[in-house]
Amino acid sequence: MILVSGATGNIGRPLIAELAAKGVKVRALTRTPDTARFPEGVEACDSGRPDFDGVSALVLNSTGGSVALLEAARAAGVRRVVTVSALVVAEEADPEEGGNAAVHRALEEAVEAAVPEWTHLRPGAFAANSLRWVPQLRAGDVVRGPYAQARTSPIHEADIAAVGVRALLGDELLGQAPALTGPQGLTFAEQVEIIGSVVGRPLRYQEISPDMAAQAMMAHGVRKEQVDSLLSYFADSIGKPVPITGEVERILGRPPRTFAEWVADHADAFRQ
Ligand SMILES: NC(=O)c1ccc[n+]([C@@H]2O[C@H](COP(=O)([O-])OP(=O)(O)OC[C@H]3O[C@@H](n4cnc5c(N)ncnc54)[C@H](OP(=O)(O)O)[C@@H]3O)[C@@H](O)[C@H]2O)c1
Repeated sequence: MILVSGATGNIGRPLIAELAAKGVKVRALTRTPDTARFPEGVEACDSGRPDFDGVSALVLNSTGGSVALLEAARAAGVRRVVTVSALVVAEEADPEEGGNAAVHRALEEAVEAAVPEWTHLRPGAFAANSLRWVPQLRAGDVVRGPYAQARTSPIHEADIAAVGVRALLGDELLGQAPALTGPQGLTFAEQVEIIGSVVGRPLRYQEISPDMAAQAMMAHGVRKEQVDSLLSYFADSIGKPVPITGEVERILGRPPRTFAEWVADHADAFRQ
C-alpha cells in the first residue's frame, strides 16, 4: 500500500492515476475525504488522521503538515519516502533562511534521517503555474504580472508524477534527488503567447512592477519570505540560460512533454 499526501494536488492526481492504472494499492490523503474523487479502488483517507496500516511507502508532498506526517510514518515503520522537493535546492548552495530552498532542504534532511529508502524529486517550475493566469484570461486577452522576460523551463506535472512512480516501484532511484525540468526555457511572455497559439486567442503578457506583484501575492496568503524568494528567483533568471536537465529522459526513456503539450492537455482552462 502506498500512502500519497497532496493527493488532490498537481502531482498527486496524475501520480495516483498512474499507480491505480498499474493495479497498485493506494491510500490518498486529503482534508476532504468525503468529497474528493479518486480513481476506482483508491482509498480516500483524512489527512488529519493518516492510516498507516499496511503502508510500505509514502509520497511526501511538502505542502502542509509534512513534518508531522513524516514522523508518524517513521513511527509506523514505513521504509520508503518519495519527497516532493524543488529544483532550487540543487541551485542554491547557501540558501536564505525561510526561503524555498531552505524549507525544502530541511524536509529532505528530515526524510534522510527518518527512513532508509528515499528519493527526492526536485522539479523546477511547474507548467501548471500558468493556471494562475486563468482568472485574468477569463476577463480578457492580457496577463499582467512581473518580469515578462523571466524564464523557466516549465515541466508537465504528469512527468514529475511518472518519475515518482519509478521511485516508488523500483530501486534504481534510491538515494537520488533528480532535478526535473521541462525541455525548453521560455519567458513568461513566450508562455502566454504559446497558450494563445494553442487555444487560438491573441494573448499577451503586460509587465507590472515587482512591488505590485508582491502585494497581490501576499493578498493571496503567500508568506513574505516566499514572495521575496520567488521574485528574486524570477529577476535572477532574466537574460540567463535556464537550467534544463536531462533527468526526465534518463529516468523515463523519453523526453519531457513540451509546454505546448501541457497547454493542449489543459486547453479548456484557457478558453474564454
Ligand atoms: N509550483 C511550482 O512551480 C513548484 C516547483 C517546485 C516544487 N514545488 C513544490 O511542490 C509541492 C507540491 O505542489 P503541488 O502544486 O502539488 O501542491 P498543491 O497542489 O498546492 O497542494 C497539494 C495538496 O495538498 C493539500 N494541502 C494544501 N495545503 C495544505 C495544508 N495547509 N495542509 C494540509 N494539506 C494541504 C491539498 O489537498 P486537500 O485539499 O485534498 O487536502 C492540495 O491539493 C510544494 O511543496 C511546492 O513547493 C512547486
